[in-house]
Amino acid sequence: MSTTTSAARAQTVLGNDDWWRDAVVYQVYPRSFADGDGDGTGDLSGLRAKLPYLRKLGIDAIWLSPFYTSPLADGGYDVADYRDVDPRFGTLADFDAMIAYAHELDIRVIVDLVPNHCSDQHEWFQAALAAGPGSPERELFHFREGRGDLPPNDWESIFGGPAWTQTPDGQWYLHLFAPEQPDFNWDNPAVRAEFRDILRFWLDRGVDGFRIDVAHGMIKADGLPNVGKAGDERQVMMVGRGELPYFDQDGVHEIYREWRPILDSYPGGRMAVAEAWVPSPQRLARYIGRDELHQAFNFDFMMASWDADSFRTIIDKSLMEADLVGAPTTWVLSNHDKHRHVTRYGDGPVGLLRARTGTLLMLALPGSAYLYNGEELGLNEVLDLPDELREDPSFLRTGESRDGCRVPLPWGGTPADGFAFGPAGAAAPWLPQPASWAALTAEVQEDDPASTLNLYRQALAVRKSNPALGGGAVRWLAAPAGVLAFEREPGIVVVANLSKVPVSLDAFGGKALVTSGPLTETGELPVDTAVWLQR
Ligand code: GLC
Repeated sequence: MSTTTSAARAQTVLGNDDWWRDAVVYQVYPRSFADGDGDGTGDLSGLRAKLPYLRKLGIDAIWLSPFYTSPLADGGYDVADYRDVDPRFGTLADFDAMIAYAHELDIRVIVDLVPNHCSDQHEWFQAALAAGPGSPERELFHFREGRGDLPPNDWESIFGGPAWTQTPDGQWYLHLFAPEQPDFNWDNPAVRAEFRDILRFWLDRGVDGFRIDVAHGMIKADGLPNVGKAGDERQVMMVGRGELPYFDQDGVHEIYREWRPILDSYPGGRMAVAEAWVPSPQRLARYIGRDELHQAFNFDFMMASWDADSFRTIIDKSLMEADLVGAPTTWVLSNHDKHRHVTRYGDGPVGLLRARTGTLLMLALPGSAYLYNGEELGLNEVLDLPDELREDPSFLRTGESRDGCRVPLPWGGTPADGFAFGPAGAAAPWLPQPASWAALTAEVQEDDPASTLNLYRQALAVRKSNPALGGGAVRWLAAPAGVLAFEREPGIVVVANLSKVPVSLDAFGGKALVTSGPLTETGELPVDTAVWLQR
């Protein structure tokens, strides 16, 4: 038996401003969540209409992936106007109506902020192209002369290929992601002033926080030095690795120190969560604290392989790191960039049961949990999308595609392809839903007590009625090989059977509150199943 301390503060009643510390946040991918106007693409009016569904699910907040004006060259992570809504997703009035209703239902709203780069259709970039070399407009981005026919340096794009594209006048511009996503020059005070203003724009509209995209980006090392390639190894990964001249540079912290007083000047605990891929908890800790950001994503849990040791090691490491960083960790199993966890865990009935078990494990851990839209329906990754329908810019360059987790949610209702995404008579969804999802629609699952939807509702309700579950410590209990068992403060014991045989629950005692699948006839915990027991 051993004890692990958690970073979450010992207190069980959190002040209003601390809501994010133990929040369950539901990520909405606007294009794929709910279609309000029937054009086959999700939108803000669709989201507004589904807020009662989210309220019933029991989440505390939504995180909205980008819905700003965008050519959608990277699903909206290429923003052409930071202060407006893309017409495909609605209008600012739709945003206002959505957030007002969310707040009425006690749901907070976090929006995605994309500061490292914009869209090549952004008016600043269009002006920079038109103004030509040497102009102040080009100073807002990274334009350089090449080395003969070669780009200015050896940097590679995260999506594959060089991180530079040449313009007709011969200069090259930097884009760490797709060519349609030019990087801002954050050494320019005008860029800084613009983003301070964008923060205020959305805070004034009532947002409760920001998810900072590529939060370890923005600042590039002076002189844009070469990385120097190591053999054939792909040079660019999202992780800063300590030495990359474009990630995790010390100067990025100045930006967050400018932003924090702005967040703090608004009432009600406005927060920021960083997507920062850095090489160590020590480096991550520098992003978090009273004068920078509130929290950072921890993606390790998502990387765990399906075995008890892997989960236990990652849980212990995450909690230790959260202590080091000084803020409760986040737990994530799925998002818009990774294959859905049902599929990572083996797909089919086995993958689904494991995914439900992984979710029960996650929701019992201290800190905040981030859910990805559709995981509450047990959706799998759609692996067999026709190539010509795939839109992920990385697919064209690397063959890796994130489209399969972005297929619109099956709500049910009027048949269209067997089941509808939007309202009656709606156009087909922008990515086709597999026929097998007819059995997974929200409508089909609504009244089925054994459905994944109702499992999520049940677990979130228990979590809500036991606020101590969001904080406190994880106390590991002795358990057979391959079985994870830990106790949480309100007397809740979590047992997850990742072994190859059913296990008896006698040693743990207590009454089953939630199980990820049925127990055996003799009351044992089957393989790949988890239970929350109340002692
Ligand atoms: C983040 C987003 C990802 C996007 C990239 C570039 O990693 O999660 O979807 O492609 O940033 O903005």
